[in-house]
Amino acid sequence: MQCSQHRTAVSHDTVARGTLRRTSCTQCSSSRPRRRPVVQATSSSSSSSNQGVEELPGPRNAFVPGQESESRRQLFNRISPVYDELNDRLSLGQHRVWKRMAVKWAGAAPGQRALDVCCGSGDLALLLAAAVGQGGSVTGLDFAADMLQDASSREAAATADAPWQRSAKVTWVQGDALELPFDDASFDAATMGYGLRNVADIPKALAELRRVLVPGGKAAVLDFNNSSQPLVDSLQGLLLEQVVVPAAASYGLGDEYRYLRPSIKRFPNGREQEALARQVGFRSAVHYEIGFGMMGCLVATK
Ligand SMILES: C[S@@+](CC[C@H](N)C(=O)[O-])C[C@H]1O[C@@H](n2cnc3c(N)ncnc32)[C@H](O)[C@@H]1O
Repeated sequence: MQCSQHRTAVSHDTVARGTLRRTSCTQCSSSRPRRRPVVQATSSSSSSSNQGVEELPGPRNAFVPGQESESRRQLFNRISPVYDELNDRLSLGQHRVWKRMAVKWAGAAPGQRALDVCCGSGDLALLLAAAVGQGGSVTGLDFAADMLQDASSREAAATADAPWQRSAKVTWVQGDALELPFDDASFDAATMGYGLRNVADIPKALAELRRVLVPGGKAAVLDFNNSSQPLVDSLQGLLLEQVVVPAAASYGLGDEYRYLRPSIKRFPNGREQEALARQVGFRSAVHYEIGFGMMGCLVATK
């Protein structure tokens, strides 16, 4: 296994069940402590290396075709030390409510096999683990090794704090949402939180979700809503630019969060997401607006 900075291809078998092996890399010989100092982004949209390509705020190459994936993987590795804290602060804890709704909509039930794609630090995977219980199984997949490390540590801490809880153990897998390393029809329910907007190929990610679900299985895809309501859109823009970016900047991560607004504006709206889900073969697809229309959840049934 290579370190997260130097690996170019991800493999799906690098994370042991419930624990994630620490990486050591011949190129940088670094070993990562649990809480890492935040490293200031070395690149930003002010770079002129992509001449002729539309420049948008955010990390370099985050929107350049063919380079988004690697750029965004690095971005999520960088923000992982403060990701949970910022989520709580910036949503006033509301993201926990929206994630609970997504798990309900995915229909995860005791004894089932559930998957959380783009699991990040594991919020949705851990909720799925409680929903399916010890008789079930949960897999959390992400391509950012640092996020997975946090997810694994959080699961261990939660188990130590409440050993009586009857949650499933989570298998943390490093891999690509665009090429899920699982057989067809391996899962009864799936979630994806704030991931679809970040993948390089949205229809492919939806098709992969569908492929790994059993017939009748549901995927709940939670993300920011690209609202067509001018008032909601303005309020969302204001909150992102006046609250979220300054808060992130106080951690040295302004550039990393500045990409949110353009990524939301480029994200298919609810109707478009429903159409995309049907195009890749989901039997039904409904998009729900939540959080005063600023968030959305696509619920697609195979
Ligand atoms: C905004 S975070 C969301 C994390 C978590 N689901 C949550 O709701 O808190 C997006 C996550 O998607 C992951 N991601 C983005 N593109 C991916 C891809 N192609 N394959 C796997 N993970 C990806 C990132 O590494 C990051 O952890």
